[in-house]
Amino acid sequence: MEKIYQYIKDHATEPSEALAWVEKQTHVRTNHARMLSGAVQGQIMRMLVQTSGASRILELGTFTGYSAICLASAMPDGGHLDTLEINDELEDLILEGFERAGLADVIDLHIGDCKETLRRFREEGREYDLVYMDANKREYPEYYELVFDMVRPGGLILADNVLWDGKVCENPMPQDKQTLGIARFNDMVTEDRRVESVILPLRDGLNLIRKKA
Ligand SMILES: C[S@@+](CC[C@H](N)C(=O)[O-])C[C@H]1O[C@@H](n2cnc3c(N)ncnc32)[C@H](O)[C@@H]1O
Repeated sequence: MEKIYQYIKDHATEPSEALAWVEKQTHVRTNHARMLSGAVQGQIMRMLVQTSGASRILELGTFTGYSAICLASAMPDGGHLDTLEINDELEDLILEGFERAGLADVIDLHIGDCKETLRRFREEGREYDLVYMDANKREYPEYYELVFDMVRPGGLILADNVLWDGKVCENPMPQDKQTLGIARFNDMVTEDRRVESVILPLRDGLNLIRKKA
């Protein structure tokens, strides 16, 4: 599997200098580099933005800003991305990456619990073409309910890690809140007649959800 993934990576468009910088700094300055979405998924998300023409994007879970840069760099002129992160210790690294990518003017970083930020955004009547969910896996069902009305008809919701290392196919223990949260979320989406969806077996699983027009 490693070999085939390396082959796929070698045959995808090379990440920008700014993305390479973020990836390196993530390894140097954090202990959680495995949380990066990475070159292959980043390129796929760029293409989803380009082909859908999404210009208003919301991201839950910035981490060091890798996926935010991938998404925002593919937006048309005039586009805007809001990204939500709870860990304020990451702020300096995130903002430096956005500067290096030349995207500081089109990305707003919102530090805080994303559920609170989402409630505020709903009250403000914000609307998005694409939402990328990648924050706390236990809370995916709540995120889905909070963001749904903010997605325009025909818009996309992408949810990362929805296979959770294959654990969603097993019988999770009651204390395994992450697997239970993701499994409940995947079931919610499948049963929701307002959307069409498919899980792409990409890395740890990417649920690609389209709100019907
Ligand atoms: C998997 S990482 C995101 C990776 C990033 N999207 C990327 O691809 O480079 C998940 C991030 O969500 C953040 N997070 C977790 N719970 C959160 C919450 N309740 N509100 C906002 N951010 C949260 C974590 O601090 C972490 O940085």
